Amino acid sequence: MRMRIFVGLFALFLISVYSVQAQTTAAPSPPMGWNSWNHFACKVTAADVRGAANAIASNGMKDAGYIYVNVDDCWQAGRDEQGRIVPNRNFGDMKALADYVHSKGLKFGIYSSPGPETCAGFTGSYQHEEQDAQTYAEWGVDYLKYDWCSASQVYPVSQIREVYEKMHQALQKTGRPIVFSLCEYGWDLVWRWGKDVGGNLWRTTGDIQDRYESMSTIGFGQAGLEAFAGPGHWNDPDMLEIGNGGMRHDEYITHMTLWCLLAAPLLAGNDLTHVTPEDSAILLNKEAIAVDQDAKGLQGHRVSAEGPLEVWAKPLADGSVAVGLFSRAGAFPVKVNFKDLGFTGSVHVRDLWAHKDLGSFENDFTAQVPRHGAVMLRVSK
Ligand code: GLA
Repeated sequence: MRMRIFVGLFALFLISVYSVQAQTTAAPSPPMGWNSWNHFACKVTAADVRGAANAIASNGMKDAGYIYVNVDDCWQAGRDEQGRIVPNRNFGDMKALADYVHSKGLKFGIYSSPGPETCAGFTGSYQHEEQDAQTYAEWGVDYLKYDWCSASQVYPVSQIREVYEKMHQALQKTGRPIVFSLCEYGWDLVWRWGKDVGGNLWRTTGDIQDRYESMSTIGFGQAGLEAFAGPGHWNDPDMLEIGNGGMRHDEYITHMTLWCLLAAPLLAGNDLTHVTPEDSAILLNKEAIAVDQDAKGLQGHRVSAEGPLEVWAKPLADGSVAVGLFSRAGAFPVKVNFKDLGFTGSVHVRDLWAHKDLGSFENDFTAQVPRHGAVMLRVSK
């Protein structure tokens, strides 16, 4: 009897070690890639997705780490007699699309909802969770964004965790590693339990818009959530708007700087077949991306705020610290005190947007920050 209990407990232990490990391997660093929603919304077609995959594979993004090519809402037509989800005319053969994305050395993501309908009114996974997970696995899907949407019509919000756990189980049952992206706008303090229901990332807020007010409110609003992020499980302040045209250059610099310091998923949301050199340089800044993807896996935190002037820091694996100096108002000098970063004596400062070593400094460093802009530094001993 005792022996049986022991074997049972040991098996449970192995299963939990395995599932924690699987979660970490699925997203050891914040997922990077592209998603169709911010630019194409419901007009997206398979051709747009192939275009994005072609662009990523050839414009330097793949080498910089952008790997996922994710279809968002609006790809579904309905279900066949067997209840199997069917793509609409804009997509046709999903397996062929996944194969194409894979042929570029990239990974393929898809979107659904636990409700009967997605946010844009397309067919959701309600009462077809296992069947859909199986279909995705057969198509070769590597990433699922699971968006609450109409689920409130069929579940009380108090069941939100069970609802996400149900799809987590269904995904696990397929045996295919599939990154699980929770999208429920931060409801019920998802950062506290997203990891326990198998989430590799979870949206912490409502939808981002391509405006400074929206981006900055979301980005700076992540303060305090750093305790909940780590390898395999990330806070998601929503996808990037860089290149969509609604913000000025300095504002997009703030967007990228802040998202990298936050160890946020970096999912480009623009039309990758038409990118200006300025926007491309932002998305491809390898020094900024290295901060986002750093092996230590810490989310940055707010060091200080003097009204609209903010300083954020993210400790990195090599002992250096990435720092963001931000002005949420006009052009002002912004100062970081090195003791707030845990440094004493002289430190070395590198500018990650200018790609320049600035030299050695003691006590503090001040930079002129443009209106709504950012300066990004790497400070090391
Ligand atoms: C919700 C999500 C968005 C997007 C749309 C699609 O609003 O938060 O990111 O997926 O649905 O309809």
